[in-house]
Amino acid sequence: MYRTFTCGELRISDVDKEVTLAGWVQRSRKMGGMTFIDLRDRYGITQLVFNEADNLDLCDRANKIGREYVIQVKGAVKERFSKNAKMETGDIEIIVSELKVLNTSEVPPFTIEDKTDGGDDLRMKYRYLDLRRQCVRQNLELRHRMTMEVRKYLDSKRFIEVETPMLIGSTPEGARDFVVPSRMNPGQFYALPQSPQLFKQLLMVAGLDRYFQIVKCFRDEDLRADRQPEFTQIDCEMSFVDQEDILELFEGMAKHLFKTIRGIDLKDSFPRMSWADAMKYYGSDKPDLRFGMRFVELMDILKGQGFSVFDDANYIGGICAEGAASYSRKQLNELTDFVKKPQIGAKGLVYARVEADGTVKSSVDKFYSQDILQKMKGAFNAKPGDLILILSGGDAMKTRKQLSELRLEMAAQFGLRDKNKFACLWVVDFPLFEWSEEEGRLMAMHHPFTSPKLEDIPLLDTHPEQVRANAYDMVVNGVEVGGGSIRIHESALQDRMFKILGFTEEKAQKRFGFLMKAFKYGAPPHAGLAYGLDRWVSLFAGLDSIRDCIAFPKNNSGRDVMIDAPGELDPSQLDELNLKVDIKEKK
Ligand code: AMO
Repeated sequence: MYRTFTCGELRISDVDKEVTLAGWVQRSRKMGGMTFIDLRDRYGITQLVFNEADNLDLCDRANKIGREYVIQVKGAVKERFSKNAKMETGDIEIIVSELKVLNTSEVPPFTIEDKTDGGDDLRMKYRYLDLRRQCVRQNLELRHRMTMEVRKYLDSKRFIEVETPMLIGSTPEGARDFVVPSRMNPGQFYALPQSPQLFKQLLMVAGLDRYFQIVKCFRDEDLRADRQPEFTQIDCEMSFVDQEDILELFEGMAKHLFKTIRGIDLKDSFPRMSWADAMKYYGSDKPDLRFGMRFVELMDILKGQGFSVFDDANYIGGICAEGAASYSRKQLNELTDFVKKPQIGAKGLVYARVEADGTVKSSVDKFYSQDILQKMKGAFNAKPGDLILILSGGDAMKTRKQLSELRLEMAAQFGLRDKNKFACLWVVDFPLFEWSEEEGRLMAMHHPFTSPKLEDIPLLDTHPEQVRANAYDMVVNGVEVGGGSIRIHESALQDRMFKILGFTEEKAQKRFGFLMKAFKYGAPPHAGLAYGLDRWVSLFAGLDSIRDCIAFPKNNSGRDVMIDAPGELDPSQLDELNLKVDIKEKK
């Protein structure tokens, strides 16, 4: 038997027991005639004691053991003289009587403790060592508990888990595909699924009624803290349901996770906000509602008063930062630099302080009377000590997005983005289409299988950009944790959608003929949603990046630095696949 207990298990009630433990040496220290070793496994750390006075030879052997050696010890549990309240096993130690080295270790490239000296790249290169650190391993344990709860919840609602294929055809909408060449079909390629969207719809045609899958999805898009090229969805689809049924069921799942994982009982229904309001009041389709600072539009008050920047603008709006009137000139200059950063792109920032006597002092005082400034103060309901920050621009949507960045920055500066506070929201009524500058045409905002709102169908041919979709996203703390829609289930409407999206009949048939054909055999009304598992886990773990809750993630260039992938293929492999590599120089 390698061990009778784990390294996280022994307590004061175990004193005097003879035990066997096995694990990794986290660190050892020699103090006088005693040697102490912290022995670690997945479950915790236990202190081992070797006493020169009891057994000189054993103690000598213990002194030769290095970090990350794998050892097995036998000994007696004793109460510690100086207890460590921070450790679960901190009341006891093991007086070792037998020691066996199960494996040696080279000196690890970084310290394997929560506080490590290893930088990101090094930790990723030796991810298997990084995963030995409790703070990293904990994220995987949390992920496991969450997937267990998801399965439990969905099973209780009669969902069945079905696996869909990973080698599928390329779908032109959305992100870029990762493609896989087919040896048996020369010149032809599979694509890895961006999501199992079409298959889950086919499972509804097949009568499965309630499907789910915890599934890997692949998207070749620019990476960010909340985006990985391969990530995991909790993907669901249901038949004979309307939007209310879906929102209720998945809100229920979110509440179940909050309760079972974080011990938070969310009793109230999640608020709902239309996409149009989210953009108008927060400049984002995923507003962070842990704090206020709703936008106030100021066109009526500030335009036409001789300040050319505002007079020429098509949008003037601002936020009120409570208690920020004390910001110094330097801080205000830094905020101006912030909004002028190329990623944000504003031309400048106007600010107005509400003084202790209620008067308003702004950076554009010479253009505005106190009367007008008071009107503006009223629009924000601002109080003495508050700071009003204003942006303007020619393009309302662009300016709102810039103001949204400023809102998030102010919240960060005021410590309002508290990771232990959660604000959940449904964003509903998304537009069905969005204009793509790149493609010069309308694209489906969600995907081409999303149904339009019944009352907006007449606008499909005349004003498609005004048509709203039966689509919804769940947002938690400004993170889009999931999204879905009511699907089109009639082939005539699906044909019409493809036409508006610029697919020729031939192209639509080639890409989606199988779905359109399936819709001719009695497709039930159906709808679904997919949650981003990595995003949920990182929210619950309070992580800044989803990378930390993925066992073997990719870096920002999409590389796995541990296995050094992607890599080149042998000429013989290329030959077999009928492929030639021709790297174009980037312009
Ligand atoms: P969507 O594209 O909105 O919908 O994706 C669903 C959810 O998946 C997560 N997500 C990601 N997580 C990490 N890295 C990524 N690159 C990434 N991309 C998306 C997000 C997102 O809300 N088939 C539809 C769902 C449906 O209509 O049922 C779909 O894939 O949390």
